[in-house]
Amino acid sequence: TYVVTDNCIRCKYMDCVEVCPVDCFYEGENMLVIHPDECIDCGVCEPECPAEAIVADTNSGLEMWLELNAKYAELWPNIAAKGEPPADAERFDGVPDKFETYFS
Ligand code: SF4
Ligand code: F3S
Repeated sequence: TYVVTDNCIRCKYMDCVEVCPVDCFYEGENMLVIHPDECIDCGVCEPECPAEAIVADTNSGLEMWLELNAKYAELWPNIAAKGEPPADAERFDGVPDKFETYFS
């Protein structure tokens, strides 16, 4: 599966939603997650994210994000169409460790 990670938080550009062939993104207030059982591993969303927040689960050190994506994909609503990104998205692009301060 592919996994949404820290830099999505408060950026939430949603370009990923437009290209996913199986609509397996789920929307929280400040970020999206990927449902690990629905993702078909096509990889097309990865280069589309301007924040480079989507990574393959073959990368190391993703345990927390794998758990978080799986958990919230069950709790948050599905998103199949791109919405309006936050007005201040660019200000948050690249800010380190956003999870601790901004995840909700
Ligand atoms: Fe969707 Fe493919 Fe990205 Fe998985 S890898 S979330 S199926 S676009
Ligand atoms: Fe987040 Fe990137 Fe999608 S910032 S909403 S994973 S395009």
